[in-house]
Amino acid sequence: MTTRQQQSAVLALQWTGHSLRVLDQRQLPDTINYDEYTDAQGVAQAIASMRVRGAPAIGIAAAYGVVLSVNQHYSKSNSSWQQQVQTDITTLANSRPTAVNLFWALTQMKSVLDGQSDDPLPTILACAKKIHADDIAANYKMGELGADVLANATGILTHCNTGALATGGYGTALGVIRTVYARNPIKIYAGETRPWLQGQRLTVWELAQDEIPVTLIADSAAAWLMKSGAIDWVVVGADRIALNGDVANKIGTYSLAVLAKQHDVKVMVVAPTSTIDGAIENGDQIEIEQRQQSELLPDCYTDNTYVSAWNPVFDVTPAGLISAIVTERGVAFNPGVNGVVGLIEA
Ligand code: MRU
Repeated sequence: MTTRQQQSAVLALQWTGHSLRVLDQRQLPDTINYDEYTDAQGVAQAIASMRVRGAPAIGIAAAYGVVLSVNQHYSKSNSSWQQQVQTDITTLANSRPTAVNLFWALTQMKSVLDGQSDDPLPTILACAKKIHADDIAANYKMGELGADVLANATGILTHCNTGALATGGYGTALGVIRTVYARNPIKIYAGETRPWLQGQRLTVWELAQDEIPVTLIADSAAAWLMKSGAIDWVVVGADRIALNGDVANKIGTYSLAVLAKQHDVKVMVVAPTSTIDGAIENGDQIEIEQRQQSELLPDCYTDNTYVSAWNPVFDVTPAGLISAIVTERGVAFNPGVNGVVGLIEA
């Protein structure tokens, strides 16, 4: 089966024409189970509960959530439909704080909605479908651009899941890895990505389906892997990129970048331009999501007043630790010097 055919098997999101089917990623790789949503509140809950996750996929899901809201509330006789849709947009925006793709997609949908006088549904649906299709196209473009940069790579370590499950299809960092491997079958390593294990449960699953060999490592094995000389690049995605090139991504990315510097390993970040937040100068302005202690703490400590857990699920890697940021519009080399402004000004 080809890579593109494989993607249809693992799509995170499917628009049915009247509802959004969301693959429950919490159950992977053991169970493939799609939940069907017919309202925006349900989609917001699917995002907050991690059924769908990954920055671009969250944005696409939210866009379809707005479609469901318009479908539910719009009628010629309902003079309050716009306020009701706005309430749903606010609920969607509150589902998770860090990935800017969510807010980017909602802004796109809102601006299309604001211009509508007649039945807004066809136009708003077209906008969501375009956001979805553009993301897939961007992934394929980034795959090519990133693979060009990695032409002489010998081994790659990736983190979290940045594949078809995290995007409209194909993937950001994992899209680059798929393209690199098709050109030159080099060694791929994936970190487990605690505490949600996106690397162990999702990335390994996606790559195995594509028949791309992958070696799983405990997150804590990364330094020793680098010391062994097995990799020359760390390739990751992003949830939000500041104008100076600082990158918020899955917790542990910053650790990898620090380790990479020590071992002369380069760091590549792969993300569509919808992940660049043009409103923030640097990573200090990025809200880092804190999730419940229960995601880390064993049950036996739930009521123990002496034990607590600190559970930030993203961190910020300073631009100076990154060698290249790959977008569908081009590559920013050494973003610590020039940032990424040039990629969104074009
Ligand atoms: O908490 P998650 O699983 O939504 O975090 C996902 C990541 O951090 C990904 O690396 C990022 O969204 C890039 S996905 C293309």
